[in-house]
Amino acid sequence: MEQQDATLDGTDAGRAGAAPDDLPLPPGPDGLPLVDNTFQFLDDVWAFYDALAEHGDVVSYGVGGYDFVTLLHPEHVERVLVGEPDRFRKGDIQRQSGIEFLERGLLLSEGEAWRRQRGTLQPMFYRERVESFGEPMVEEAVAAVGSWDDGAVLEPQSAFSELTLRILARTLVGADFGEEYGVVREAAEAIQAKSDAGALSSFLPHWLPAPRNRRFRGATAAFDDLVGGLIQERRDTGGDEHADLLSTLVAAGEAPDGPSEKEMRDQLMTFLFAGHETSSLALTYVVYALTQHPEVAEGLREEVDGALDGSTPTVGVLPDLTYTERVIRETLRLYPPAYVMFRRTTEDVAFGGYRVPAGTELTLPAFRLHTDPRFWDDPEAFDPSRWEGSREDVPEYAYFPFGGGPRHCIGMRFAMLELKLLLATVVQRARFDLVSDPDLAFEPAATLQPRDPIRVRVRHR
Ligand code: HEM
Repeated sequence: MEQQDATLDGTDAGRAGAAPDDLPLPPGPDGLPLVDNTFQFLDDVWAFYDALAEHGDVVSYGVGGYDFVTLLHPEHVERVLVGEPDRFRKGDIQRQSGIEFLERGLLLSEGEAWRRQRGTLQPMFYRERVESFGEPMVEEAVAAVGSWDDGAVLEPQSAFSELTLRILARTLVGADFGEEYGVVREAAEAIQAKSDAGALSSFLPHWLPAPRNRRFRGATAAFDDLVGGLIQERRDTGGDEHADLLSTLVAAGEAPDGPSEKEMRDQLMTFLFAGHETSSLALTYVVYALTQHPEVAEGLREEVDGALDGSTPTVGVLPDLTYTERVIRETLRLYPPAYVMFRRTTEDVAFGGYRVPAGTELTLPAFRLHTDPRFWDDPEAFDPSRWEGSREDVPEYAYFPFGGGPRHCIGMRFAMLELKLLLATVVQRARFDLVSDPDLAFEPAATLQPRDPIRVRVRHR
């Protein structure tokens, strides 16, 4: 391993402005002329990341014509997300990889446009507002579990995907998509397929006539029509009785400097995509983990049964569900749905004694930091008890499933409330046995997808 600044004593952080020209560029794996490391990367993204870690905490390489640097130390992550966020913007690779139809939404917007949007939408995610969504969340979860037959084989990802989408539709846009859930699912799947980091077409511009691109364009056009219809309907009926995300957007759109039609559509698509894909994956991985760790499943049932005493979960009971919360945190550590975050340097920046030039794509791989043995004991073990106590021994940004700093996940509180309530509802009513392969392999798509569908047999309790 090449020697790097292991102490990270803050020498970089003190360097405001451009990094000195005399600093060396970061080390990294050797690449081929013209294509750099593209083929190594495409061959096996996970093995490629293993190889990167052998070069230290600041590692450079080239893929698909982009210069990349991967940061593998929590202090570097913290500087990018929290300490000096103005020196970085969202990565161009995200736009290039085909999700540009979300580009005016909160996830990908930049600068003043982002600040304005975040200010307008933040009140939707204040504690009291989010807690008012608890009831519809549980109602939808009770209905979903009720629709699973005892003994039936279920694909949790598709079941939870529909469930989390129903919840978003009800709470954020006051809609029941009915037959049109398929439109959102199809668009979400096309985005995943299109932005699969292991596939060459991820790096092709979206207008090329590759099959994935055709599917992507068709699916996202239908999604765009769906949200356009929602906006028009709300304009026509007036939004007074709704006070939800859709009404907030429609009202803002009436101001002269408010969001354009394109921005409103992108915004709705952003929330419907970012808000359901991540949460449904988290629940899927919790269910998988429970099938593999019967003692954890038993601990969870004991806590949930004791706290609920046969009644339906409510927001009021959540403070008693501490083990439930630990199980969720541990799942987000081992299986972070947003497994890599991307940024782009806007100027030369020093990391760990290396100069990272302006215009470099940075990757912050949560999945690596979450399992780095320097910061975690027995990192590959699924052990919710590691979350007992204050955890002061673990650096803060060794764990960042919701990002950090000004651009941290706006839906974090929503997601944690939803995950706890849904998990408690599910565990109270059902148990699961895995019927698919217990060895999980992952697809490096826009989110951390299982390569093959996870399937479980449902048993009513
Ligand atoms: C387990 C569930 C979730 C996970 C793991 C997750 C993860 C993340 C992460 C890591 C980011 C930061 C990305 C970056 O820095 O590049 C983010 C941003 C975002 N998330 Fe989530 N998220 C979840 C649920 C939700 C939900 C439920 C919503 C909406 C209701 C949502 C909406 C957003 C939006 C709009 C942003 C962009 C925020 C901004 O840039 O200002 N997410 N999410």
